[in-house]
Amino acid sequence: MQVIILPSARDVALYAADCVVDVIDARTNPVLGLATGSTPIALYKELVVRYQSKQVSFRHTTSFNLDEYIGIADSHEQSYRTFMNRHLFDAIDIIATNTHVPLAESQDAGTLKKSAQDYEASIQQAGGIDLQILGIGLNGHIGFNEPTSSFASRTRIKTLSESTVIANKRFFKDGEFQPHLALTMGIGTILDSNAVLLMATGKAKAEAVKAMIEGPLSAMCPASALQLHEAATIVLDEEAASLLALKEYYQWCEQKRQQLHEGNVS
Ligand code: F6R
Repeated sequence: MQVIILPSARDVALYAADCVVDVIDARTNPVLGLATGSTPIALYKELVVRYQSKQVSFRHTTSFNLDEYIGIADSHEQSYRTFMNRHLFDAIDIIATNTHVPLAESQDAGTLKKSAQDYEASIQQAGGIDLQILGIGLNGHIGFNEPTSSFASRTRIKTLSESTVIANKRFFKDGEFQPHLALTMGIGTILDSNAVLLMATGKAKAEAVKAMIEGPLSAMCPASALQLHEAATIVLDEEAASLLALKEYYQWCEQKRQQLHEGNVS
């Protein structure tokens, strides 16, 4: 794992935007894996700014989102499709049919299972994901892979944990139906990406971040599976990094990496 600790949440967003633009510049038909939630909003804002100032075009980019709530329409105010359209897709030149969010409106198990299989097939057909953006849940989830999810899991129906339902309650109006099920890429699907970039900001994420980076490899912390990925970058602000035992070491590593990049091995 490459652990990068930056002064602020804004720096985390800028760093992530640089990584996305680098992948787009390097590939003829880049494939991005995208996340929803509060954390990547600043990244998407920055990508829109860079698109508007002609620093990047998404014309040849394909995207796959991690997850979608089961049982609400794409057009629902709280669907992840609506979130992505609002925060990114509608503001850039990505071709709408090249943006993929799991289709999860059906309440029929067979239809959802087929939708999950089709999603895996579409990722394969696109040539796999070049860079997967991730956030982390308070309980260590990635996508909606809740604690005890198999490290080999693929896109499937997942029941949300109580902690996740409570954390996401803020987005739903009082009395409004809040889904307890989601269609999510599996941990195995995420680990198949060529590279992953997990963003975490704020004090509330510090425990989960510590478990992911320094805890044992454990299904109790799904994000710890990223320890198995050969190109996983974890980019944190100071608060999210505050409980790391080896914080100074990660900063030292980053300094050495920069020096090496400049041809200095001292
Ligand atoms: C959403 C997703 C989730 C979030 C996580 C953190 O697509 O994959 O794993 O990344 O719940 O959410 P925030 O950023 O709102 O704290």
